[in-house]
Formats: sequence, structure tokens, C-alpha cells
Amino acid sequence: MTSATHSPKILVTGGAGFIGSHTVVALVEAGFEPVIVDDLSNSLASVLNGLRAILGRDVPFYQANCNDRAAMQAIFEREALTGVIHFAAYKAVGESVAKPLDYYQNNLGSLLLLLDLMNEYKVHNLVFSSSCTVYGQPEHLPVTEETPRLPAQSPYGNTKAIGEDMIRDAVRANLPIKALALRYFNPIGAHPSAEIGELPLGVPANLVPFITQTAAGMRASLTVYGDDYNTPDGTCVRDYIHVVDLAEAHVQALRKLSETNADASYDIINIGTGRGETVLNVIKTFEEATGVSVNYSIGPRRPGDVEQVYADVSKSNRVLNWHTTHSLAEALRDAWRWQQKIGAKVAAS
Ligand code: UD1
Repeated sequence: MTSATHSPKILVTGGAGFIGSHTVVALVEAGFEPVIVDDLSNSLASVLNGLRAILGRDVPFYQANCNDRAAMQAIFEREALTGVIHFAAYKAVGESVAKPLDYYQNNLGSLLLLLDLMNEYKVHNLVFSSSCTVYGQPEHLPVTEETPRLPAQSPYGNTKAIGEDMIRDAVRANLPIKALALRYFNPIGAHPSAEIGELPLGVPANLVPFITQTAAGMRASLTVYGDDYNTPDGTCVRDYIHVVDLAEAHVQALRKLSETNADASYDIINIGTGRGETVLNVIKTFEEATGVSVNYSIGPRRPGDVEQVYADVSKSNRVLNWHTTHSLAEALRDAWRWQQKIGAKVAAS
């Protein structure tokens, strides 16, 4: 492995979170030196133990909120960073409707501060976590990056759209930042070691943690939100991507940025598999992959859900030289292995 002193140091905000922690692993494996900053508001310190178990060493970690100027400045002062991956953000759609200002403050205040510090400390490369939520219900599928964004349905979605625009405008004004906004589709799964995975606090809003918790007997039944959509089996279609593949896309994004000669640049890239899956097919694939059945019933539609969205991945394949390598079945098997592990931990505590 490359020695720590010569590895490019990358600040990973939200590096103790679901996507962040998997990206930390991918970065180390690719010869980067990640430095985590996370306030642990939606993650647990035990994630650091999982990282240690996988990597065989500690990853530098700062417990701080990314809106805390003094704390962030101290990190930029101390660490000779070459890039930033900005994951840290609130992401609960419903909560964002109830607490919009918290969302704007947390998600956009932190980005503003990062742009400012990157400028001050001459850190040029930025990867920003965006979301396919900015497309709303696209007219044509699969959805390409040229598809116009639709007005956000929630303050959460709006923070992603505004975050993209803040970076685009800064680059247009020649702030020396090279940035890629990655529009994630639906990240699922866990590290195959089952040392890290998704840790939803409270009742999960997302499909796969709800499936695994139901399969584990922690929830009586899963409600499928609507089966009267205009899709092959009537349930919504999404593009579910293994989090390990998604993590790898960040490594490729950083490599791409370091090869970019311009002083300032900005681009947007979809990160998905290119395949749309119905909710019922996800349940069926889970059952086949794990041999465990999931108790479910059909309920009403969930307000705000789009009918179907999946990615055109040609730009990510071309620009990032990146392809997914994990199937839906693998992702669901890994999510289940992780659920069994954390289920056992809960039982033991
Ligand atoms: C949601 C957000 C999206 C955000 C993403 C973060 C909305 C409208 N979208 O995506 O902006 O970026 O989470 O992870 O909230 N489903 C069920 N039963 C359940 C849970 C989900 O049938 O108990 C269905 C949903 O109707 C949907 C699919 O499963 O069709 C996926 O849902 P989910 O995992 O919540 O992701 P999104 O809604 O696609």
C-alpha cells in the first residue's frame, strides 16, 4: 500500500454514515488517505470499529459539525488535503418538510463553508452528493443528465438542487474548484464483510432496511406503497445500486478530477445501475437470495413518490470509466448479512 505520507488526503464529511463509510474503505483500498469529519448526529461511533476491522488500522476521525467554522478551519489547517467528498447532510424527506430551515442551514451552510475553506486553503477537488430526486418524475426513461430538473418536492430535495447550483455558480465565477456532483439513485446493501452497513435510527423510511427488519422479525409486516402504478406489476420502479459500487464511483470521480487540467470545472453524473426494479421484484429477489420470506401487504400510495426512475449510465461509464459489478441479489444478500449481524448485536446488548 502507498505510504500514508504520500497518499492524497481526502476529507470525507459524513464519513461515518452509510455511503461515507463504504467510500472510506474504497478510498483506502485505492491508495487515498481519507480523513473523516462527522458529528455522529445520524451515525454511531461504532462505525469506526467496523472500518478498523475491514482496514486493519484506524482512519483519522474528527467529531465535528460541518457548520462549525472553527472546527472545520482547524482540520483544513492541520491536514494537507487534496480533495473533499461532501456527504454530510440531513436526508429525511418528511422531516425536511417539518423543519425546512434546519435542512437549509445544515445542508447548505456546510457546503458554503466548505467552498470558502477550499478556496482559502487551495483544496481544489470536490465531489458532492446529489440525488436523482432532482429529476422528479422524468418524462423519458432512462434519465440522462440533460433531463431538466423539476421543482423540488421537499426542502431536502431543494437542498440538493441548490447545492448543485451553488457549486456551478462558484465555478462559473472561477473559484478554483473542480467539482463533480454525483446524482445517486437508490443505494442499498452493505460491505460484504458485514462490518459496516446502513444504520437507520428509528423506523426505516427506505425500502431495503424495512425489508431486512421485517425478515428479521423486528417489524410485523412491510407495506408496499401502491400497486396501481403504470409499471410491469403496478409497483414503483427504482434503480437500486450496491453501496460498494457507489463507493467506487467516488474513487473514480476523484481520479477524474485530478486528471482535469482546468482550474475550475463542474459536471454532473448519474450514479445508478441503469436497471429499474419494481418493489415486488425487490422483495422476490430478497426471498430468493436469502431463503427468508418477507411478510408484506399492499397499501395506499405514499405521497410524493414518483412512479418510476432509473439512470442512463452511459455518462458515468464513459467519463468515470466506471461500471457496477454487483447484482441486486448480491446487494440484498449483503444487506441481510448486515441485518443479521446488527440484529444479533441488539439482542446481545
Ligand atoms: C427516497 C427519497 C429520495 C432520497 C432517498 C434517500 C422520497 C420521495 N424520496 O427515495 O429523495 O434521495 O430516499 O435514500 O422520499 N417503499 C415501500 N414500502 C416501504 C418503503 C418504500 O413500498 O416501506 C417503496 C417506495 O414507495 C418506493 C421504493 O420502495 O417505490 C423505494 O423507496 P425508498 O427506499 O424510500 O426510496 P425513494 O423513495 O426512491
